[in-house]
Amino acid sequence: MSFRWGILGTGAIARQFAEGLEAVDDAVATAVGSRSQASADAFGDTHRIPRRHATYADLAADPEVDAIYVSTPHSLHMENSLMCLEAGKPVLCEKPFAINRAQAEAMVRMARERGVFLMEAMWTLCSPVMRRALALVREGAIGEPRLLECDFGFRAPFDASGRLFDPALGGGALLDVGVYCVYMAHAFLGGVPAETTGLAHRGETGVDEQSAWIFRYPGGELAVLSSAVRTETRQRLAIHGTDGRIEVPEFWHPTTLIQNDREQSFALIGNGYNYEAQEVARCVQGGRLESELLPLDASLEVMGILDDLRAGWGLKYPVE
Ligand SMILES: NC(=O)c1ccc[n+]([C@@H]2O[C@H](COP(=O)([O-])OP(=O)(O)OC[C@H]3O[C@@H](n4cnc5c(N)ncnc54)[C@H](OP(=O)(O)O)[C@@H]3O)[C@@H](O)[C@H]2O)c1
Repeated sequence: MSFRWGILGTGAIARQFAEGLEAVDDAVATAVGSRSQASADAFGDTHRIPRRHATYADLAADPEVDAIYVSTPHSLHMENSLMCLEAGKPVLCEKPFAINRAQAEAMVRMARERGVFLMEAMWTLCSPVMRRALALVREGAIGEPRLLECDFGFRAPFDASGRLFDPALGGGALLDVGVYCVYMAHAFLGGVPAETTGLAHRGETGVDEQSAWIFRYPGGELAVLSSAVRTETRQRLAIHGTDGRIEVPEFWHPTTLIQNDREQSFALIGNGYNYEAQEVARCVQGGRLESELLPLDASLEVMGILDDLRAGWGLKYPVE
């Protein structure tokens, strides 16, 4: 039987996820939950989803759903995930996992206490390109990794009440796209750095519109990272080792891997969001409570790093 997804929220990324599911043979979007019936119905019509709920609570309680994808703004990830986990539903929650580590800990605690699957939707690490890059680095293809560079900046139109700029919705570049760069350093250089430092420019709503940071790892490895929501950057990952280099252009939705100037393209299926959906189904159907690709401790550690960077800039959200 197909793995039956419930989609919580009907925004931009929910649409992408629903499209991604169409590329998965043994998965289907069965239900959608919204704050309004009209929005649930419109989303259901577009994506041919039969069960449409006018509240998130009704989606969480839907017995025909095998897992729920939480796609609301960051500030709601904890509340929405806790509700689904409490109802016993496996959860794939969008990045950043939560507003801060304390919220993420509440989510992980609930999942572990209830014995329910939970995973952060850091889809990039589920991509075949990134899995290959990780395997190459781990098998020593570039010697010892010493220096990692990663940037993720894009230019969004300014909208003080939109989720990218509104502090109440967890606005700012670090939580929206900087989290990808932190994940790359975490994955390729070995977890939590010994030291982090960074500078941010905070715009008129008070959130970080751009920032740049450096991490130092215990073995002397360095990560040079940046993120922005008002400045387009190259969006490139490069890992420099003692015996070579790996680069991934447009690393957050990668299609190509460059090893010492030799380029390898990957034949990918779907729009990329299908890979994280497949990973969740594989884990849940195999009785796993978390994914080895995206373990919950990694989500907690990454949230802790994000907290440390924000603390350095004095950036607190209204919920904190
Ligand atoms: N993985 C990726 O590539 C990727 C890309 C973009 C975004 N994201 C993540 O996905 C999350 C959502 O981003 P998005 O761009 O899809 O946002 P969006 O277009 O604004 O959609 C968010 C949805 O959340 C629901 N919602 C509930 N309370 C809300 C509130 N107070 N204000 C606004 N919306 C509210 C709404 O659905 P209903 O009206 O149906 O309730 C809304 O459509 C963010 O955490 C973001 O970091 C991930």
